[in-house]
Amino acid sequence: MNNLAIKKIALLTSGGDAPGMNAAIRAIVRTGIYRKVEVVGIKHGFAGLLNKEFIEMHSHSVSKIIAQGGTMLKSARCADFEQKEVRRRAYENLREIGVDALIVNGGDGSFRGANCLYKEFGLPVIGIPCTIDNDIFGTDYTIGFDTAINTAVRAVDKIRDTAESHNMLFFVEVMGRHSGFIALHTAIATGAEAALLPETETDIDKICSYMERERRKNKTSGIVIVAEGDEEGGALEIARKVKKKLPGYETRVTILGHLQRGGAPSCNDRVLASILGHTAVNALLEGRQGVMVGMIHDKIVYTPLEEAFTKHKQIDPEWLELSKIISL
Ligand code: F6P
Repeated sequence: MNNLAIKKIALLTSGGDAPGMNAAIRAIVRTGIYRKVEVVGIKHGFAGLLNKEFIEMHSHSVSKIIAQGGTMLKSARCADFEQKEVRRRAYENLREIGVDALIVNGGDGSFRGANCLYKEFGLPVIGIPCTIDNDIFGTDYTIGFDTAINTAVRAVDKIRDTAESHNMLFFVEVMGRHSGFIALHTAIATGAEAALLPETETDIDKICSYMERERRKNKTSGIVIVAEGDEEGGALEIARKVKKKLPGYETRVTILGHLQRGGAPSCNDRVLASILGHTAVNALLEGRQGVMVGMIHDKIVYTPLEEAFTKHKQIDPEWLELSKIISL
Protein backbone atom coordinates (compact mmCIF):
# COMPACT_ATOMS: atom_id res chain seq x y z
CA MET A 1 0.00 0.00 0.00
CA ASN A 2 1.32 3.45 -0.83
CA ASN A 3 0.08 6.74 0.55
CA LEU A 4 -0.11 8.51 -2.82
CA ALA A 5 -0.28 11.90 -1.11
CA ILE A 6 3.39 11.60 -0.16
CA LYS A 7 5.68 12.32 -3.10
CA LYS A 8 8.50 14.21 -1.45
CA ILE A 9 10.13 13.47 1.90
CA ALA A 10 12.61 15.72 3.71
CA LEU A 11 15.05 14.53 6.35
CA LEU A 12 17.30 16.16 8.89
CA THR A 13 19.65 15.25 11.73
CA SER A 14 19.36 17.27 14.91
CA GLY A 15 20.85 17.57 18.40
CA GLY A 16 24.11 15.86 19.36
CA ASP A 17 25.57 13.81 16.52
CA ALA A 18 25.53 10.04 16.96
CA PRO A 19 27.51 7.37 15.09
CA GLY A 20 25.08 5.66 12.73
CA MET A 21 23.24 8.82 11.67
CA ASN A 22 24.86 8.49 8.24
CA ALA A 23 23.68 4.90 7.93
CA ALA A 24 20.13 6.08 8.71
CA ILE A 25 20.38 8.87 6.10
CA ARG A 26 21.59 6.35 3.52
CA ALA A 27 18.73 3.94 4.27
CA ILE A 28 16.13 6.72 4.06
CA VAL A 29 17.45 8.01 0.73
CA ARG A 30 17.80 4.60 -0.88
CA THR A 31 14.40 3.38 0.37
CA GLY A 32 12.79 6.61 -0.82
CA ILE A 33 14.26 6.14 -4.29
CA TYR A 34 13.12 2.52 -4.31
CA ARG A 35 9.60 3.60 -3.32
CA LYS A 36 9.66 6.34 -6.02
CA VAL A 37 9.50 9.37 -3.75
CA GLU A 38 11.81 12.36 -3.93
CA VAL A 39 14.13 12.85 -0.96
CA VAL A 40 15.44 16.22 0.18
CA GLY A 41 18.17 16.62 2.78
CA ILE A 42 18.13 19.57 5.19
CA LYS A 43 21.52 20.70 6.48
CA HIS A 44 22.10 21.81 10.10
CA GLY A 45 18.86 20.43 11.53
CA PHE A 46 15.95 22.76 12.31
CA ALA A 47 18.22 25.80 12.00
CA GLY A 48 18.94 24.83 8.40
CA LEU A 49 15.24 24.29 7.77
CA LEU A 50 14.68 27.94 8.72
CA ASN A 51 17.51 29.02 6.42
CA LYS A 52 16.26 26.82 3.54
CA GLU A 53 19.45 24.76 3.45
CA PHE A 54 17.96 22.12 1.20
CA ILE A 55 19.88 19.61 -0.90
CA GLU A 56 18.48 17.09 -3.34
CA MET A 57 19.47 13.57 -2.36
CA HIS A 58 20.29 10.92 -4.93
CA SER A 59 21.53 7.39 -4.56
CA HIS A 60 25.14 8.51 -5.08
CA SER A 61 24.76 11.33 -2.52
CA VAL A 62 24.91 8.68 0.19
CA SER A 63 27.63 6.45 -1.29
CA LYS A 64 30.33 5.35 1.13
CA ILE A 65 28.89 7.12 4.16
CA ILE A 66 27.73 4.01 6.04
CA ALA A 67 31.11 3.62 7.73
CA GLN A 68 31.47 7.27 8.73
CA GLY A 69 30.66 8.78 12.12
CA GLY A 70 29.02 12.19 12.50
CA THR A 71 26.37 13.27 10.03
CA MET A 72 26.86 14.32 6.41
CA LEU A 73 23.84 16.62 6.83
CA LYS A 74 25.48 18.30 9.84
CA SER A 75 23.58 18.88 13.05
CA ALA A 76 22.61 21.75 15.30
CA ARG A 77 20.57 22.58 18.34
CA CYS A 78 18.00 25.30 17.56
CA ALA A 79 16.61 27.22 20.56
CA ASP A 80 14.50 29.47 18.27
CA PHE A 81 12.34 26.50 17.40
CA GLU A 82 10.58 26.91 20.75
CA GLN A 83 8.62 29.81 19.19
CA LYS A 84 5.49 28.94 17.25
CA GLU A 85 6.05 31.72 14.70
CA VAL A 86 9.48 30.28 13.93
CA ARG A 87 7.98 26.82 13.50
CA ARG A 88 5.36 28.22 11.12
CA ARG A 89 8.19 29.62 8.99
CA ALA A 90 9.83 26.20 8.99
CA TYR A 91 6.59 24.54 7.89
CA GLU A 92 6.08 27.11 5.12
CA ASN A 93 9.64 26.58 3.90
CA LEU A 94 8.91 22.88 3.53
CA ARG A 95 5.63 23.44 1.72
CA GLU A 96 7.27 25.97 -0.58
CA ILE A 97 9.44 23.22 -2.06
CA GLY A 98 6.59 20.70 -2.08
CA VAL A 99 7.71 18.56 0.86
CA ASP A 100 4.87 16.32 2.11
CA ALA A 101 6.55 14.66 5.08
CA LEU A 102 9.59 14.93 7.34
CA ILE A 103 11.90 12.39 9.01
CA VAL A 104 13.74 13.69 12.07
CA ASN A 105 16.84 11.85 13.30
CA GLY A 106 17.67 12.95 16.81
CA GLY A 107 16.91 12.76 20.52
CA ASP A 108 14.16 14.04 22.79
CA GLY A 109 14.66 17.75 22.06
CA SER A 110 14.49 17.09 18.32
CA PHE A 111 11.32 15.04 18.76
CA ARG A 112 9.71 17.90 20.67
CA GLY A 113 10.23 20.18 17.65
CA ALA A 114 9.09 17.46 15.24
CA ASN A 115 5.94 16.83 17.25
CA CYS A 116 5.04 20.53 17.13
CA LEU A 117 5.24 20.51 13.31
CA TYR A 118 2.98 17.46 13.31
CA LYS A 119 0.45 18.78 15.86
CA GLU A 120 0.34 22.43 14.81
CA PHE A 121 0.44 22.12 11.02
CA GLY A 122 -0.55 18.49 10.37
CA LEU A 123 2.80 17.71 8.75
CA PRO A 124 3.35 13.93 8.63
CA VAL A 125 6.48 13.38 10.72
CA ILE A 126 8.41 10.29 11.80
CA GLY A 127 11.21 10.29 14.37
CA ILE A 128 14.26 8.02 14.42
CA PRO A 129 16.02 7.74 17.82
CA CYS A 130 19.63 8.87 17.44
CA THR A 131 21.61 9.71 20.57
CA ILE A 132 24.56 8.10 22.27
CA ASP A 133 22.75 8.46 25.60
CA ASN A 134 20.15 5.72 24.90
CA ASP A 135 17.63 7.70 26.92
CA ILE A 136 14.67 7.53 24.55
CA PHE A 137 11.50 5.74 25.58
CA GLY A 138 10.10 3.33 22.97
CA THR A 139 13.25 1.56 21.84
CA ASP A 140 15.68 -0.82 23.53
CA TYR A 141 18.64 0.96 21.94
CA THR A 142 19.15 4.28 20.21
CA ILE A 143 21.44 4.73 17.21
CA GLY A 144 24.93 5.65 18.43
CA PHE A 145 24.78 4.06 21.86
CA ASP A 146 26.54 0.83 20.91
CA THR A 147 29.46 2.66 19.28
CA ALA A 148 29.76 5.06 22.23
CA ILE A 149 29.91 2.32 24.86
CA ASN A 150 32.47 0.40 22.83
CA THR A 151 34.59 3.56 22.62
CA ALA A 152 34.25 4.10 26.38
CA VAL A 153 35.08 0.46 27.14
CA ARG A 154 38.25 0.56 25.04
CA ALA A 155 39.32 3.73 26.85
CA VAL A 156 38.62 2.33 30.33
CA ASP A 157 40.50 -0.89 29.55
CA LYS A 158 43.57 1.23 28.83
CA ILE A 159 43.09 3.30 31.97
CA ARG A 160 42.88 0.06 33.96
CA ASP A 161 46.49 -0.76 32.95
CA THR A 162 47.75 2.46 34.52
CA ALA A 163 45.47 2.18 37.55
CA GLU A 164 46.86 -1.31 38.24
CA SER A 165 50.49 -0.42 37.58
CA HIS A 166 50.41 2.60 39.89
CA ASN A 167 47.84 1.54 42.52
CA MET A 168 45.58 4.41 41.58
CA LEU A 169 41.90 5.09 42.01
CA PHE A 170 40.49 6.50 38.76
CA PHE A 171 37.25 8.36 38.27
CA VAL A 172 36.28 8.14 34.62
CA GLU A 173 33.54 10.48 33.47
CA VAL A 174 31.33 9.36 30.61
CA MET A 175 28.54 11.26 28.86
CA GLY A 176 24.95 11.20 30.05
CA ARG A 177 23.61 14.52 31.28
CA HIS A 178 20.32 12.98 32.36
CA SER A 179 20.86 9.27 32.09
CA GLY A 180 23.26 6.58 33.18
CA PHE A 181 23.00 3.99 30.41
CA ILE A 182 26.50 4.69 29.09
CA ALA A 183 27.93 4.62 32.63
CA LEU A 184 26.19 1.40 33.62
CA HIS A 185 27.06 -0.53 30.45
CA THR A 186 30.66 0.70 30.56
CA ALA A 187 30.98 -0.27 34.23
CA ILE A 188 29.61 -3.78 33.65
CA ALA A 189 31.82 -4.34 30.60
CA THR A 190 35.04 -3.11 32.23
CA GLY A 191 34.52 -4.64 35.68
CA ALA A 192 34.59 -1.19 37.24
CA GLU A 193 34.34 -1.01 41.01
CA ALA A 194 31.32 1.32 40.88
CA ALA A 195 28.98 3.15 38.52
CA LEU A 196 27.52 6.49 39.61
CA LEU A 197 24.39 7.43 37.72
CA PRO A 198 21.94 10.35 37.71
CA GLU A 199 19.10 7.85 38.30
CA THR A 200 20.46 6.59 41.63
CA GLU A 201 21.57 8.32 44.80
CA THR A 202 25.33 8.61 45.10
CA ASP A 203 26.67 8.10 48.61
CA ILE A 204 30.28 9.32 48.89
CA ASP A 205 30.71 7.67 52.32
CA LYS A 206 29.61 4.34 50.91
CA ILE A 207 32.14 4.59 48.07
CA CYS A 208 34.88 5.38 50.59
CA SER A 209 34.06 2.52 52.93
CA TYR A 210 33.85 0.17 49.96
CA MET A 211 37.30 1.25 48.76
CA GLU A 212 38.72 0.82 52.26
CA ARG A 213 37.26 -2.68 52.51
CA GLU A 214 38.71 -3.55 49.12
CA ARG A 215 42.11 -2.23 50.12
CA ARG A 216 42.09 -4.54 53.16
CA LYS A 217 41.53 -7.38 50.70
CA ASN A 218 44.67 -6.22 48.85
CA LYS A 219 42.87 -4.52 46.04
CA THR A 220 45.12 -1.56 45.43
CA SER A 221 43.55 0.12 42.44
CA GLY A 222 40.06 0.93 41.32
CA ILE A 223 37.89 2.43 38.62
CA VAL A 224 34.71 4.35 39.26
CA ILE A 225 32.60 5.26 36.23
CA VAL A 226 30.77 8.55 36.70
CA ALA A 227 27.93 9.72 34.46
CA GLU A 228 28.43 13.44 33.84
CA GLY A 229 24.94 14.15 35.19
CA ASP A 230 25.43 12.49 38.58
CA GLU A 231 23.81 14.61 41.29
CA GLU A 232 27.04 14.68 43.36
CA GLY A 233 28.83 16.39 40.46
CA GLY A 234 31.06 15.22 37.63
CA ALA A 235 34.14 13.04 38.09
CA LEU A 236 36.36 15.97 39.18
CA GLU A 237 33.98 16.96 41.96
CA ILE A 238 33.42 13.39 43.15
CA ALA A 239 37.16 12.64 43.10
CA ARG A 240 37.75 15.75 45.20
CA LYS A 241 35.16 14.63 47.78
CA VAL A 242 36.57 11.10 47.94
CA LYS A 243 40.17 12.30 48.21
CA LYS A 244 39.19 14.43 51.19
CA LYS A 245 37.94 11.34 53.00
CA LEU A 246 40.61 8.94 51.71
CA PRO A 247 43.78 11.03 51.54
CA GLY A 248 45.92 7.88 51.30
CA TYR A 249 44.59 7.11 47.82
CA GLU A 250 46.29 8.35 44.65
CA THR A 251 43.27 9.55 42.72
CA ARG A 252 43.09 10.51 39.05
CA VAL A 253 40.31 11.77 36.81
CA THR A 254 39.73 11.12 33.12
CA ILE A 255 36.88 12.83 31.27
CA LEU A 256 36.14 10.98 28.05
CA GLY A 257 33.99 13.82 26.69
CA HIS A 258 33.16 14.18 23.03
CA LEU A 259 35.41 11.40 21.83
CA GLN A 260 32.46 9.16 22.78
CA ARG A 261 30.31 10.77 20.08
CA GLY A 262 32.70 10.30 17.16
CA GLY A 263 34.18 7.45 15.20
CA ALA A 264 33.05 4.80 12.78
CA PRO A 265 29.71 3.30 13.83
CA SER A 266 29.72 -0.28 15.15
CA CYS A 267 28.07 -3.07 13.19
CA ASN A 268 25.07 -2.98 15.57
CA ASP A 269 24.58 0.75 15.02
CA ARG A 270 24.85 0.44 11.24
CA VAL A 271 22.29 -2.36 11.18
CA LEU A 272 19.90 -0.63 13.59
CA ALA A 273 20.15 2.65 11.65
CA SER A 274 19.58 0.87 8.32
CA ILE A 275 16.50 -0.92 9.62
CA LEU A 276 15.00 2.18 11.27
CA GLY A 277 15.74 4.45 8.29
CA HIS A 278 14.18 1.99 5.86
CA THR A 279 11.17 1.44 8.13
CA ALA A 280 10.59 5.17 8.62
CA VAL A 281 10.07 5.72 4.88
CA ASN A 282 7.79 2.70 4.57
CA ALA A 283 5.84 3.83 7.63
CA LEU A 284 5.19 7.27 6.13
CA LEU A 285 4.00 5.70 2.89
CA GLU A 286 1.69 3.43 4.87
CA GLY A 287 0.11 6.51 6.41
CA ARG A 288 1.80 6.50 9.82
CA GLN A 289 2.69 9.88 11.30
CA GLY A 290 3.51 11.56 14.58
CA VAL A 291 5.41 8.50 15.77
CA MET A 292 8.94 7.38 16.47
CA VAL A 293 10.13 4.12 15.01
CA GLY A 294 12.12 1.97 17.44
CA MET A 295 13.04 -1.65 18.14
CA ILE A 296 12.00 -3.58 21.21
CA HIS A 297 13.04 -7.23 21.52
CA ASP A 298 14.13 -7.16 17.87
CA LYS A 299 10.68 -6.10 16.66
CA ILE A 300 9.72 -2.76 15.11
CA VAL A 301 7.63 -0.66 17.48
CA TYR A 302 5.92 2.69 16.81
CA THR A 303 5.63 5.06 19.76
CA PRO A 304 3.76 8.39 19.64
CA LEU A 305 6.43 11.10 19.47
CA GLU A 306 4.95 12.74 22.52
CA GLU A 307 5.50 9.59 24.59
CA ALA A 308 9.02 9.20 23.27
CA PHE A 309 10.09 12.52 24.76
CA THR A 310 7.86 12.71 27.83
CA LYS A 311 8.15 9.17 29.19
CA HIS A 312 11.29 8.27 31.05
CA LYS A 313 13.23 5.21 30.00
CA GLN A 314 14.22 3.41 33.18
CA ILE A 315 17.51 1.80 34.03
CA ASP A 316 16.77 -1.85 34.83
CA PRO A 317 17.36 -2.22 38.62
CA GLU A 318 18.48 -5.82 38.10
CA TRP A 319 21.31 -4.67 35.81
CA LEU A 320 22.34 -2.19 38.45
CA GLU A 321 22.31 -4.89 41.09
CA LEU A 322 24.32 -7.31 38.97
CA SER A 323 26.93 -4.65 38.25
CA LYS A 324 27.44 -4.33 42.01
CA ILE A 325 27.49 -8.07 42.69
CA ILE A 326 30.03 -8.95 40.03
CA SER A 327 32.38 -6.13 40.92
CA LEU A 328 32.75 -7.28 44.55
O1 F6P B 1 24.28 13.72 22.71
C1 F6P B 1 23.93 13.76 24.07
C2 F6P B 1 25.09 14.25 24.84
O2 F6P B 1 26.11 13.40 24.51
C3 F6P B 1 24.97 14.33 26.35
O3 F6P B 1 25.26 13.16 27.05
C4 F6P B 1 25.90 15.43 26.70
O4 F6P B 1 25.63 16.01 27.90
C5 F6P B 1 25.69 16.38 25.56
O5 F6P B 1 25.42 15.55 24.44
C6 F6P B 1 26.81 17.32 25.30
O6 F6P B 1 26.66 17.87 24.04
P1 F6P B 1 27.04 19.35 23.63
O7 F6P B 1 28.47 19.50 23.94
O8 F6P B 1 26.72 19.40 22.19
O9 F6P B 1 26.18 20.25 24.44
